[in-house]
Amino acid sequence: MKVYNKKEDIRKAIAEFKSDGLSLGLVPTMGALHEGHLDLIKKACRENDKVAVSIFVNPTQFNNVDDLEKYPRTIEADLSVLSDLKTDAVLVYAPEVDDIYEGQTISELFDFDGLEYEMEGKFRPGHFDGVGTVVKRLFNIIEPDKAYFGEKDFQQLAIIKKLVKKQNIPVTVIGCPIFREPNGLAMSSRNLRLSPEHKKAAPFIYDILKKAKAQFGTISVENIKDWVVQQFAEEALLQLEYFVIADAETLKPTKQIEPKKAYRAFIAVYADEIRLIDNIALN
Ligand code: PAF
Repeated sequence: MKVYNKKEDIRKAIAEFKSDGLSLGLVPTMGALHEGHLDLIKKACRENDKVAVSIFVNPTQFNNVDDLEKYPRTIEADLSVLSDLKTDAVLVYAPEVDDIYEGQTISELFDFDGLEYEMEGKFRPGHFDGVGTVVKRLFNIIEPDKAYFGEKDFQQLAIIKKLVKKQNIPVTVIGCPIFREPNGLAMSSRNLRLSPEHKKAAPFIYDILKKAKAQFGTISVENIKDWVVQQFAEEALLQLEYFVIADAETLKPTKQIEPKKAYRAFIAVYADEIRLIDNIALN
């Protein structure tokens, strides 16, 4: 495993093996690597000759300064986990802010055909412009054949697919199923910040998603939402921010279920000051 901090250096290394016809996958991360990331990286290693893993806490996608400051940064542990994979297929790109932003740490403004206004977009204004900006730059620097993203951030995945399509970026975007703790909690770097009691309470989020799914199609969408709100009202350690049942394609909230359409439930919850999101396919 080799670590690069400068885009020129990783580009040089990539150019060399690309000239030998080798394929390249990219797994973009913000570090604090967990099993979910490793799952993406292992899949990328199976499907490509070389895999670039970027580790970069992207300032432009944080709409809350406190969240950016407290985001876990565990580069030493991350590099040790990656070197434990014992493969020389992996290249790590761990840049400083200026290597990506060149002194202008601001977002490009995107039109994602409305995907950006739902759910996370409503509660985290500017977030998806920040994500779009950094992912586009990573695609430009690394020029991967395939790029891997987890479905925990399902809306992000939809937005990146839209970015690639609208801007004709020659990369195949691959979404991977959510990786969960044995107790059901979706793996997230933010879980590291949970207090022991909040960590114990947090699996409730996936329990509720599963129970909402069981009710889908048997009672109205409105009634499922009311039921979820009521469940969280009784759980003192977790505050519900939103629960939305949406069309899995357009991400538009739905009231009426139509046959042949795919739906998904999306949820955001605060466990103290830590914001957790999750989602589930309903049909
Ligand atoms: O999902 C993440 O960790 C980030 O949003 C990403 C895709 C690495 C962009 O900073």
